[in-house]
Amino acid sequence: MISDVNKGLTMTQEEFVMIRDFIHEKAGIFFAENKMYLVQNRLEKRMAELEMKSVRDYFYHVKYDVSQKEFNRLMVLMTTNETSFFRNEPQLICFSNEVLPLIIEQKIQSKGAKRLKFWSAGCSTGEEPYTLAMLIMERLGSLAGWNIEIIANDISEDVLQKARKGVYSGLTLRNVKPDILSRYYNKSGGDYAVKPEVKALVKFSQINLNVSRNLSLMSNMDAIFCRNVMIYFSEEVKKQIVRGFFNALTPGGYFYIGHSETLHGISKAFKLVYFKNALVYQKEAGQVGATATRGTATTTLSKARTEVPGVANGASRAMDLLSKIKPMTVKK
Ligand SMILES: C[S@@+](CC[C@H](N)C(=O)[O-])C[C@H]1O[C@@H](n2cnc3c(N)ncnc32)[C@H](O)[C@@H]1O
Repeated sequence: MISDVNKGLTMTQEEFVMIRDFIHEKAGIFFAENKMYLVQNRLEKRMAELEMKSVRDYFYHVKYDVSQKEFNRLMVLMTTNETSFFRNEPQLICFSNEVLPLIIEQKIQSKGAKRLKFWSAGCSTGEEPYTLAMLIMERLGSLAGWNIEIIANDISEDVLQKARKGVYSGLTLRNVKPDILSRYYNKSGGDYAVKPEVKALVKFSQINLNVSRNLSLMSNMDAIFCRNVMIYFSEEVKKQIVRGFFNALTPGGYFYIGHSETLHGISKAFKLVYFKNALVYQKEAGQVGATATRGTATTTLSKARTEVPGVANGASRAMDLLSKIKPMTVKK
């Protein structure tokens, strides 16, 4: 039962800075001074559960909890886990109808391994990586001969537990077309369970993106989705994480961020590609590694918007491929 011991909890400026800096150092998430009351409100309920009166006590409790359980709780409190299936459809149509055919074609042409590797970084409760799995299955049909891996991770073990279960209901399904619903979910009462063949493509694990070592373990990604995650990070953390994403991409690989996010001021290493349905960042083929702000391809965002390097070719080539590859049923 939640006691009312913390009703009207007051947090001093010093306590705010203490907990704010701890969250920033550990998770990269930054709260400016004007977010003090938000942090206080979010801590209030948890501290009441623990019957703690002082933020300082809570700070030591979370800092020295070797099990990391309290840190996980804190992450749930401090982040927004909002997500849904087929979130931001134009980006996904772009992936399915334009980017994926290019990647597949390139793999076939190069006569290398028929292997596709994607990363949903900050996957929350799993809707994003499962959506990608469904799009790939729609595109490739039987998947025969293809080795497909979707790595999905989040800092919060709580959301990952729900993701691994793969059972959903309500609003998160609002953008799922009826034919996709019947092909890729098993209905049970009001719940929809993602089918085992979809789940088999996705590997969930807990990863803190703010730990460079975690990013350095990732490699050969054909595309990375880190949508609506970096909005919480400070600039310096964004730069470091984006550098890690760049290095994790295979040359020619694509990087999706949230549709209202930008790499402006964060990285010049990527090329911005204008596809028909969305803008996507790309690590140009031939690029190996880069720092976030000093890459070998120095196309700035504004420059890319006017020059649109390589886009006309890429997009029309993708459209040509559409005629050869199984049509995408979620297309509007
Ligand atoms: C708003 S959700 C985005 C989910 C999905 N990418 C989408 O766009 O629908 C943001 C997720 O980022 C996760 N996150 C925040 N900081 C993180 C970090 N340092 N490492 C890994 N995940 C983090 C949160 O736990 C949350 O689940």
